[in-house]
Amino acid sequence: MMEAKVIGADETPAKASAAPVLSVVVPSFNEAGNMPLMVENLGKALKDVPWELIVVDDDSPDGTAEVVKSLSRQHPNVRCLRRIGRRGLSSACIEGISASAAPFVAVMDADHQHDERILPKMLAEAEQGADLVVGSRYVDGGSAGEGFTETRLRGSQLATTLSALVLGKKTTDPMSGFFLMRRDKFDQLASRLATDGFKILLDIIVSAGSANVDLKIAEVPYTFRTRHAGDSKMSPLITVQFLGLWLSKLTRGLLPTTFLLFSMVGASGIFVHMTVLWATQTQMGASFTVGQITATMLAMTWNFFLNNELTYANKRLRGIKMLTGLLSFYLVCSLGAIANISVAEIIYSVRPGAYVAGLAGALMSAVFNYAVTRMFTWR
Ligand code: GDD
Ligand code: MN
Repeated sequence: MMEAKVIGADETPAKASAAPVLSVVVPSFNEAGNMPLMVENLGKALKDVPWELIVVDDDSPDGTAEVVKSLSRQHPNVRCLRRIGRRGLSSACIEGISASAAPFVAVMDADHQHDERILPKMLAEAEQGADLVVGSRYVDGGSAGEGFTETRLRGSQLATTLSALVLGKKTTDPMSGFFLMRRDKFDQLASRLATDGFKILLDIIVSAGSANVDLKIAEVPYTFRTRHAGDSKMSPLITVQFLGLWLSKLTRGLLPTTFLLFSMVGASGIFVHMTVLWATQTQMGASFTVGQITATMLAMTWNFFLNNELTYANKRLRGIKMLTGLLSFYLVCSLGAIANISVAEIIYSVRPGAYVAGLAGALMSAVFNYAVTRMFTWR
């Protein structure tokens, strides 16, 4: 276990124990090796500002929370919020900011990729009237190259372009996980934010737009650094989750991210179904009924596990709960199939067109399965 090192004498205890002007919220998962340096660097960067650090840790197995708490014993302006049985970057940020009583809050990654030395400048921008100050890699004077591999850089740039489609040109770096804002503005928007994403900044800006909350945005450039200790949590799943969030924002939030992800999973299930059906018919010589039953079972199983990892990653079922969840999923989907056929038949009886009726039935079962599995499978 890491021992916290005593930080520089320039961080006076009097300032540290004054009511903070700035809360720095740092979400963490397996970041134990980054925390002592984080406290030290913040102390150096924020010499003239009463600040506090709120680490929101999702019960990291590497003992991040313990390390932060041992730092807290030496620095009363350092706190750890340990969340049990929870995962998620956006919800960690939301809960950390919600624990702040300071007029200004900043969100920053734990791995030292974000340059804490620009915090005083960001704060100055906010004190001069900006509601939200984005730490940007894509504005003059900033750069992303250093901290990214070639593929990640391309991905980040693509995501930035996609975001511009829902945001307009409000910021050059909507994917930034580094920003500072007035806490009262955040509080106004908090209830509108999706808790299940990785992209809280994008969500804040879009939500302000749809809530007609005026949000003056400023930017401060910085150079994205390489990660200090530990590993990135970015994954293909998170990329797909981002796609869901983006589509949801394109529909102005009309369709929830989870519904869109659920539908994408459903679409992939059709592919599984057809592949299995094809294999049973052409490769195994099974009867159509046996093929159709096998395909249905496998597609449902596929959908369940993919939804469990992707759509409901923050409520992921494990162990025995996964088994009962799978059974309830089978049951709900069977009822969904009945709903599908009933609706399709009603529509067909009014206006006999196979495709429209069939599509209506499929949509019916998608909505039904989504709504009901949210109630019973992933509560
Ligand atoms: N509490 C909590 N729970 N924290 C998490 C979780 C989680 O489930 N997942 C990640 N974090 C924390 C990490 O510990 C880290 O402090 C921070 O969130 C960012 O995670 P990284 O794993 O370092 O992400 P990244 O570097 O790949 O991506 C970051 O930079 C991107 C720049 O383009 C993030 O800030 C992205 O939001 C950002 O887009
Ligand atoms: Mn990182």
